[in-house]
Amino acid sequence: MNFFKQKLNYIRQYFSNILRPWSKQYSFSNRRQQVFQQAHSKIFQNHAFYRNLLLIGILSSYYHKQIVQCIEDDQIQKARKTIEIQINKMKKEFGTQMAAFPEIKYTTRGNWYVMEFIVDQRNCDLFQLFITAVTTLEKKDKSVFVFKNMQTAKDGNMLTLQIDFEEKKEKQNGRVYNKGTICVTGEMISDRPGFKFSIEKTEEISETDMEAVINVYRTAIQPQQHSFVKDRMKAAPNQFGSSDPKNQSKQKSQRDQQKERTDAINKLEELGVSVFLPDAKQINLDWDYLAGYEQQKRDIEDTVLLALQYPEIYDQITAATRMKQEPNRPKAVLFEGPPGTGKTTSAKIIAQQVSIPLIYMPLESIMSKYYGEAEKKFADLWEATKMLGKSIIFIDEIDAIAGTRDSEMHEASRRILSTLLRKIDSFESSSDVLLVCATNRKQDLDPAMLSRIDMSIKFEKPDVHSRQAIFKRYAKHLSEDQLRQLAENSENLSGRNISDICKDAERRWASKLIRKLVDQTVPDVDQYIEALHNRKYQNLA
Ligand SMILES: Nc1ncnc2c1ncn2[C@@H]1O[C@H](COP(=O)(O)OP(=O)(O)O)[C@@H](O)[C@H]1O
Ligand SMILES: [Mg+2]
Repeated sequence: MNFFKQKLNYIRQYFSNILRPWSKQYSFSNRRQQVFQQAHSKIFQNHAFYRNLLLIGILSSYYHKQIVQCIEDDQIQKARKTIEIQINKMKKEFGTQMAAFPEIKYTTRGNWYVMEFIVDQRNCDLFQLFITAVTTLEKKDKSVFVFKNMQTAKDGNMLTLQIDFEEKKEKQNGRVYNKGTICVTGEMISDRPGFKFSIEKTEEISETDMEAVINVYRTAIQPQQHSFVKDRMKAAPNQFGSSDPKNQSKQKSQRDQQKERTDAINKLEELGVSVFLPDAKQINLDWDYLAGYEQQKRDIEDTVLLALQYPEIYDQITAATRMKQEPNRPKAVLFEGPPGTGKTTSAKIIAQQVSIPLIYMPLESIMSKYYGEAEKKFADLWEATKMLGKSIIFIDEIDAIAGTRDSEMHEASRRILSTLLRKIDSFESSSDVLLVCATNRKQDLDPAMLSRIDMSIKFEKPDVHSRQAIFKRYAKHLSEDQLRQLAENSENLSGRNISDICKDAERRWASKLIRKLVDQTVPDVDQYIEALHNRKYQNLA
């Protein structure tokens, strides 16, 4: 087999040099000339070769794949092996359903090694791919990396971006110049989102080249790390797969679903609503972020979080207890309590914990933005929300509306809220949408609306122990005694007030540091007490 392998290698080198596409683009390097001549002489000096060629022809039609593999260049074999290992790791990390893992093609064109794969331009920032490639390649230690030029070409819809580079490498037998190209090319039309990314190199595929391919691949497929759901949803169309079988058309292609979601998110954002994605990287947002409030956390965990995470268990219970199958999962939850007590934060934590997008609807701004046509806009909002599948709708500060003097607006918002609740009611059998409302003034809410709320969670102003815990969150360097002193002096303050006081103390301390009035880097307890008194004095608390 070695014999065939060698011959085939010569043929490959020979033909790829003659028939090389893009020959205009690349110069005929010295090494390529050598390879070409060597291949030429080896083929034509040996007559026995023709017999072998015939044999190979026959064999190759049977064992095409094996032969292609067996003539595969050592460099390519090594690269394929190394890169595949990393891709398998990514599959484990992101889960195979997360995104498509494109196949990498490894080929040679003349003395160029080519590694290429298709990326979905809707999922990744093409320019970021370049940056990833360049920053990885620049890291080569024993070589000098130089940009030669960057070209863009547009031919009809085809767009090509290309960076040429050169890499100077010191070897025992002198300096070697390796050339390379990073290229992205594809059609700029929305229904063909595939762009080809390629890295091409002369002479060798180095460890760094492989690393560049791996890094670019990772950048291309991994979910985007934005807290806004938009980009990530584009990347991961199935991550929040709708659990409503009616919405889920099996025949619908992944691309359609993806497009639908993107459209839905765009629509929602257009309507003044933010969509937040629970982002694994945003480590701050778990229950630890809110100090104290243990009972509230527990209530939310028991009734909301678990119901969202394990709907089937709740359904199993009702299936056994009820004459008529009906869910007992909460569909509408109210967070009530004075401002700054962590209601909005809790809703964000819930979304984070169950990996469900949170549709944040500041009702007042929507109402005033679309004054007069709010109900129609609301219908659009609702449609777009449904397209997202499983989600939490969070209507913040509904009291701002309830308390408004403008009776027309008040009336419209009341109608909207009851429409919303009725819609949620009609969603009987589905666990798709959880409505969370937050209010500072429960007493102002419409009784019809209140009756539809499954449960209400009270966020009181923190007691002295909670205040101490909250101070500790924002001033961890103080001793327990000092924290207690602050807590005892801050009766009636909310968590937000406390966080503001600590920020204020820090800022004032920073200015003292700059003016060299103090030398300790963290504010002392007196600074906090001063901030506390200032706040009381300003009547802000
Ligand atoms: N228990 C708490 N622990 C730590 N920080 C808190 C706490 N309660 C409130 N805060 C701070 O106050 C800010 C405002 O809270 P938020 O959730 O917006 O309150 P609400 O929605 O009830 O008005 C939070 O971002 C947080 O910094
Ligand atoms: Mg709030």
